[in-house]
Amino acid sequence: MTDHRILEVKGVSKRFGGLQANKNITMHVQRGEILALIGPNGAGKSTLFNLIAGALEPTSGEIFLEGAPITRLPSPRRCALGIARTFQVPRSFDSMTVLENVMVGAFVRHRSTQAARSAACDALVFSGLDQSADAVTGQLTPPERRRLELARAIATEPKLLLLDEVMTGLTPSEAQKGIELIRRIRETGTTIVMVEHVMEIVMPLVDRAIVLHNGEVLAEGQPTDVVRDEGVLSAYLGDRYRAA
Ligand SMILES: Nc1ncnc2c1ncn2[C@@H]1O[C@H](COP(=O)(O)OP(=O)(O)OP(=O)(O)O)[C@@H](O)[C@H]1O
Ligand SMILES: [Mg+2]
Repeated sequence: MTDHRILEVKGVSKRFGGLQANKNITMHVQRGEILALIGPNGAGKSTLFNLIAGALEPTSGEIFLEGAPITRLPSPRRCALGIARTFQVPRSFDSMTVLENVMVGAFVRHRSTQAARSAACDALVFSGLDQSADAVTGQLTPPERRRLELARAIATEPKLLLLDEVMTGLTPSEAQKGIELIRRIRETGTTIVMVEHVMEIVMPLVDRAIVLHNGEVLAEGQPTDVVRDEGVLSAYLGDRYRAA
């Protein structure tokens, strides 16, 4: 195991009854990179995130974080080891304030309420949500909810951050702010894997892309090469992108 690989996924499969959502996936994440996980709806992207974060166990295969097997560890344990994730459909505690929601993340690293509150405030400032700290979460707009997901994940001080379509539903100017925020998170030393459908967001932001299709790795490489791959064009990006 080489030290520059923060995560290794080896031959991982996940079956739901008769449906094979992930098929023998082997991939790795380099420490410090921003990696895109792309592919059509139902390709198995969120399933792979669930296997890495510990929401699901694979049917077969192994997953390693910094060289140590995590395949069967419960998700809170993986979070303590430094894996954080956002959910494709934001999951917040709606009756709690924004600050309280982010404190849930901060308690992963801090025992006292005071320390957790202070760390949560820092995460809110970093994410540009500090103005909404005392708002009741149920009243947030959809873009604010996504920002909150991000703030709660950051508050766990992750080594590896998994972002599942955090930009969905954002206007172009909000998406631009999202791109800047993700760059700043990487600058703090956090490695990022992001699922994102909008290639205009992926292309300028990521160092490398992995394309999933029908639960399998279809292509992997520099984003500029991946978008020219004939298999990727026909399975995912389509004629519109080919013309562009
Ligand atoms: N808990 C589950 N139980 C049964 N089937 C599931 C479950 N989770 C996912 N699937 C199925 O596994 C396949 C892969 O789903 P997944 O959510 O991983 O795709 P995705 O690449 O994230 O798609 P999208 O871009 O639409 O979010 C789909 O056919 C989906 O219906
Ligand atoms: Mg998904």
